[in-house]
Amino acid sequence: MQTREMSAAAVEEKRVFSGIQPSGELHLGNYLGAIKGWVERQREKVNFFCIVDLHAITVPQDPESLRRRTRSVAAMLLAAGLDPDRCTLFIQSHVSAHAEGCWLLNCVTPIGWLERMTQFKDKSAGQERVSTGLLGYPVLMAADIILYDADEVPVGVDQKQHVELARDIAARFNRLYGETFVVPEPVIPEVGARVMGLNDPAVKMSKTHSDVRGHAVGMLDDPKEIERSFKRAVTDSGNEIAFSNDPGKAGVNNLLGIYKVVTGRSKDEVERDFENARGYGDLKSRVAEVVIEELRPVRERYRRLIGDVAELDALMAVGAERAEDVSGPKLREVKDRIGLALPRMAGGG
Ligand code: AMP
Ligand code: TRP
Repeated sequence: MQTREMSAAAVEEKRVFSGIQPSGELHLGNYLGAIKGWVERQREKVNFFCIVDLHAITVPQDPESLRRRTRSVAAMLLAAGLDPDRCTLFIQSHVSAHAEGCWLLNCVTPIGWLERMTQFKDKSAGQERVSTGLLGYPVLMAADIILYDADEVPVGVDQKQHVELARDIAARFNRLYGETFVVPEPVIPEVGARVMGLNDPAVKMSKTHSDVRGHAVGMLDDPKEIERSFKRAVTDSGNEIAFSNDPGKAGVNNLLGIYKVVTGRSKDEVERDFENARGYGDLKSRVAEVVIEELRPVRERYRRLIGDVAELDALMAVGAERAEDVSGPKLREVKDRIGLALPRMAGGG
């Protein structure tokens, strides 16, 4: 059975797992809060990145558009710099261990743990019908993570509670059946963790509000659109350009935060960059400028990739195969622990 102990090199290398939903258009919040960090991490760790289409169907989806968006997110991640030679990028539904593992973990997860999840409460509030899948969503996410023995899970703050639940599920399984899973840690990026809406800096930039004019910057927006969005960004009636926790200055703080993550500069350096700025107008156009330059190559690469569906599908097939090589044996170990009668494997294994 393939475990991490088999390879000394692998033991030293941290395993990373993260996922992104193929719902809605990806925006600057997704890029700065998640994707950019993934791209940077792939140099040092063993990384698995998953497009979680099974999570997407916990709420109603139009089949054609789900399929299109899944491919689109795959192309976007590659365009943003995920390198199939350095990480395993795959589509969740291509690897059946995720759904199967979810079932096995369902059976050791108390319902109360799931009913407490704030995302479940938010998403189910006011809905006439809520699928069992929406309640079980974090168990599927736990399966995603722990079937790969991931040590680290980079996510935005909103997903921290789910990763903590994955820890609880892993620990409970280990207690019941013996050491099986690595207990994962959430890793929250310090800045970029929360990119706020440009039209309302009190709410997180989100796919749900993406249709609202001036709320989000789409990863594929052209330079003119990006400039317009930043020009319209809500600030305040003052003129001080500095990082601040004052809710009244949240707009300026958000713009500086975006500039900081894009440029990779420190807070002091960012504030110094704007010492001689001529008011908020200047701030907005300079933030727009760095975002435009950051997203330009991503948009161009995306166009090339999305035009070659066969190539894209081939890359996803390779990713799925590599993911299967890791999660398949782990799933068999789990079944074995639980006492399921293991089937004979093809080839007599
Ligand atoms: P979602 O759009 O909720 O599927 O999230 C995909 C990834 O992007 C997750 O890691 C989120 O935490 C992250 N993310 C989504 N919106 C934002 C935002 N406004 N700021 C920072 N990160 C975000
Ligand atoms: N639930 C996460 C989100 O909406 C996506 C996700 C699914 C994920 N499985 C995961 C993130 C495993 C990290 C690890 O953002």
